[in-house]
Amino acid sequence: MKDVSKLILEDGAVQNRSIYWDQDIYEQELEHIFARAWLFLAHESQLPNTGDFLTTRMGEDNVIVARQADGSIKAFINSCPHRGNVVCHADSGNAKAFTCAYHGWAFGLGGELVTVPLEHDAYYNAIERPRYAMHPVAKVESYKGLVFGTFDAGAPSLRDYLGDMAWYMDTFLDVPGGIELLGPPMKSILNCNWKVPTENFIADGYHVGWAHAAALKAIESPLSPLVGNQAYDVNTGLQVTTRGGHGFGVIWDAAAAIHPVGEAYAQWLAQRTPIMRERLGDWRAKFYNGHWDASIFPNCSFLYGTNTWKLWQPMGPHHIEVWTWTLVEKDMPDELKQMMVATNMMTFGTAGMLETDDGENMEQCTGSNRGWVTRRGKLFSGMGQVREGHHPELPGIVAKGIVCETSNRGFYRRWAQFMSGKSWDELAREPGNAADKREVA
Ligand code: FES
Ligand SMILES: [Fe+2]
Repeated sequence: MKDVSKLILEDGAVQNRSIYWDQDIYEQELEHIFARAWLFLAHESQLPNTGDFLTTRMGEDNVIVARQADGSIKAFINSCPHRGNVVCHADSGNAKAFTCAYHGWAFGLGGELVTVPLEHDAYYNAIERPRYAMHPVAKVESYKGLVFGTFDAGAPSLRDYLGDMAWYMDTFLDVPGGIELLGPPMKSILNCNWKVPTENFIADGYHVGWAHAAALKAIESPLSPLVGNQAYDVNTGLQVTTRGGHGFGVIWDAAAAIHPVGEAYAQWLAQRTPIMRERLGDWRAKFYNGHWDASIFPNCSFLYGTNTWKLWQPMGPHHIEVWTWTLVEKDMPDELKQMMVATNMMTFGTAGMLETDDGENMEQCTGSNRGWVTRRGKLFSGMGQVREGHHPELPGIVAKGIVCETSNRGFYRRWAQFMSGKSWDELAREPGNAADKREVA
């Protein structure tokens, strides 16, 4: 195992550039992070009926996720236990069984082997079917409709894994009627390391007025004054790193701000806010009206408000496939949902204006490390380190304003813990840091 202890320094604020480029570090990520952590698979609304399925990836393992006859959801590796062929080629659909195109073995909705051609004549009925079930994903659990899976049978519950991030995410998951993800997801390839977009979404309020200046001007949204960092009150909103490597930033009262015609959404929020206050209290009613940039460790991100939901699927150290859905409240009127989809496509869809701004930077942030000397250097995310701390009413480590890198450091502290092969028990006892001793107003 590669010694990863020197790759992340200064409480998560300094990263060795090799983590964005080296193949052996990437292989270690597949083993220690993607084969252990809870990974986002689907939203339950994508699989309403028995036999509904979709295919996705966990790290680089292809999996089938399917709704069972008893209503539960199971997932298993999409590779035939006979000779390894890919069994299901569809992105999604409804099936009674999955049949391999090579020799015709067929598998039930739970991955169990149900049919073997020439079972009597060629195998003399001696085949032990349970032994040849498709490899199961060890645990599949749902948190308020969001379905995650882990290959590690010893992993804690999904609720424990999400920790305080779940408390914050209840802000939009606990709405009457729940949420749904509108798809099918847009898919595109970016030539960047999977951590670059994750850290952008978890913590990077700094780039918004700069990298997106032209796009914000073109959209003419209420955020347009941020162009070139003009009118940027860096103290508006918060940034939070929860335990477990998850985190987000929020700009107050800006949920609808990116939508060029946001009045209908603003009205929706105004009408729902008293209900959310009643359900979850004042703080989360405030979060309900904010615009969030967020990531769930390791590779799922979202923007609440713009309502884009992202999965950064790793494809080697230098490439990802980006999957993008639109997050909406199920009870929203159809016209409002369609407006959300249109804004998402225009901003963070495959050809979205803000997506292309980010994509170019993310590719360069990865590609520059191709240089052997460059790769031996370091990168820095120390912004706001001296002002983060405990908030009297909010969980996690909190910093005032979204222009800081508090959540970035939380992500890299967690990354380092996973990569050094710590047990779940050790991970649960995440060590404190200097911020634990400070109070944030
Ligand atoms: S590889 Fe699938 S049936 Fe032979
Ligand atoms: Fe961006």
